[in-house]
Formats: sequence, structure tokens, C-alpha cells
Amino acid sequence: MSSSWFTIAWRDDAVVMLDQRRLPAEEHYLELRDVEEIARAIEDLAIRGAPAIGCAAAMGIARAAVISAAGDAAGLIADLERARDRLAKTRPTAVNLFWALGRMSEVWASHAGAAADAIREALVAEAQRIHDEDVATCRAIGAAGLELVPEGGRVLTHCNAGALATAGYGTALGLVRAAHDAGRGIEVLADETRPFLQGARLTAWELQRDRVPVTVITDNMAGHLMQEGRIDLVIVGADRIAANGDVANKIGTYALAVLARAHEIPFYVAAPRTTIDLSTPTGRAIPIEERGRDEVASLGQHALVPDGVPVRHPAFDVTPAQLVSAIVTEAGILEAPYGPAIERQMADE
Ligand code: MRU
Repeated sequence: MSSSWFTIAWRDDAVVMLDQRRLPAEEHYLELRDVEEIARAIEDLAIRGAPAIGCAAAMGIARAAVISAAGDAAGLIADLERARDRLAKTRPTAVNLFWALGRMSEVWASHAGAAADAIREALVAEAQRIHDEDVATCRAIGAAGLELVPEGGRVLTHCNAGALATAGYGTALGLVRAAHDAGRGIEVLADETRPFLQGARLTAWELQRDRVPVTVITDNMAGHLMQEGRIDLVIVGADRIAANGDVANKIGTYALAVLARAHEIPFYVAAPRTTIDLSTPTGRAIPIEERGRDEVASLGQHALVPDGVPVRHPAFDVTPAQLVSAIVTEAGILEAPYGPAIERQMADE
């Protein structure tokens, strides 16, 4: 990753994050001090992408601890529980959010009898650990999946599953970075990803910064380019992977998986194990976030849809496991049948 920018960082007086709503026009960092500000940054997509949302939520809890005026552990824990409830309401699909909140909750649960300041200190350290582990995990995903990326491969990706969507390096783009760094001479095609344009604005921005060849296409061009033989593989990230291998990811991912199968192109999912949710048996049980009208009906100040005409805005879809050629995690490559493969990998430390 380029060292000249970062997605999210902990500072003693604030959580600092690159405001992804303003990219690519402007590199502006937000300095957020309380839980409400961090929750809104997640809801409004200033920070987004499943692992990055988890990091932001963990740091939100750590900020709640730092600014809590409570003098004793009981008062502090009451403040922390309020913070956790607020953050848990921000986005429903990315399971990393709930994973990170659960991990932070374990810190105060395991500090029974400790002084408030000791709990504060432990929470700040845990949030930083979650961040640093995520970068290492993404690098491991890149190394684990390298063998799937052919020399000169033309990779189609959807949304942004890059350094911007994680603490750094990325999942789908982690694989892309690893292949690029290994000299595979790859090229990336980035779906623009309507309606919030994470592909056009964010994937293109971060790959350009790292000098990885990238070309943006509109979402409806993928089928044509596959038919013309111009795409060798698809790599996407995930917001939640069910126990049977069904994958929730940005709306439009399912259509790509169907197209990839029709054209006999491999369709890979790259995600950390923190995105696998063993308590969700199949994709049907994954909650799909419905976002508001504005992101679909307008572009900046410009109306795209007549007033009074309703729009739909499911932000994610589910790709059935049988359309997934492999899932790459930091622990290796998973292949069908995914249920037992996932169970085995999740049982490994
Ligand atoms: O709505 P977003 O931008 O948070 O959606 C992000 C995605 O769908 C990503 O592909 C997913 O979170 C994986 S990020 C490594």
C-alpha cells in the first residue's frame, strides 16, 4: 500500500479516517471524537467495506471508553454498552461489524473487578490490535490466493474490496496487489458499481496510486467483455459468508457470478475469516441492507429519476455457493463443498 495515505488510524485525541465520500476529488481526513460521529461516518459511507467498518466500530468503542466520564467500572460499562448498541445499528449486512463489537465486548467482560482506567487501556489496545491484525490478514489472503491469478490475467472486480475497505492492503485487491507485486503483469477491470460508484471512485483511485493498471467499465459492460474473451477471472470481496458458502457482497455481484458461470470464467471471493458467519446457515438468512432513495435517484445535485417515481435500493445481494469457484481466506483456498471446508478452516487457529 502507498504509505502516503491510510484508511483509518487511532490517535490519542481522535479516530482519523479518509473521507471516502470525497474521493477521488479530494483527500480529506475526518477527525472523529465521539461514538455518534463514528456511527454516522459508517452510516453515511465516509468509511465502508466490511473489515474497515469493523475497525471503525472497534475504535468507536475505544473512543467511548476514553471520553466516558464514569469514575467506576460499572458506569464505564454502561457507557460502553450504549456505544455498542448505537454502532450495531449502523449497517446490518457486514458481519465484521458485529464480530468487532463482540471482540471489544469480551475485553470488558474479561476485566471483571478491574478499575475503569485498566478497562479503558485494554480497549484502546484491542482496537489497535484489530486494526493491525486486519492488515496482516489481508496480506496473508494475497499470498494464499496468488496461485489462482494467471500470468497476464485480466481481472474483473466489483465495488471496492481494497485498502480502502480494510485497515490496509485489501481482500480482493489484496490478491490483485500480491499478483502485481509478483510480476504477473495483470490488468484490472473495475465495475463502476452503481449507485455509490465504489469501483469508479475508490478502486480506480487506490490502484492508480499503487500503479496497478486499471480500467473502469460501467456495470452493464461485463457480459459483453466476457463474451469477447477480455476477462480471465473475477475476484470480489464479501460482506458476509454463510456457513454453506453463500456470499453476500455489493449489489451486482450475483449478476457477475451468473455471467462468469455462463462464460466459464472463474469467480473467486477473497475475504478474511472474520467475514464468515457460522451462525448464518445459508445466504437466505443474511440481512440485506436497504439504503435510501438519494444514492439511486440523484448524482450529486443532479436528479436522475423524476420526483414521485419510487426506486429500490438493496445495497447487497447473495451469490449462491455453487456459483463460487473458490473462497480465499488468510488460512488458504476453500473449495466446494464449502460447508465442511469452512467448518474445518474455522476450527483451525
Ligand atoms: O456498501 P459498501 O461500500 O460498504 O460495500 C462494500 C462491499 O460490498 C465490499 O465488497 C465488501 O465489504 C468487502 S470489503 C473488503
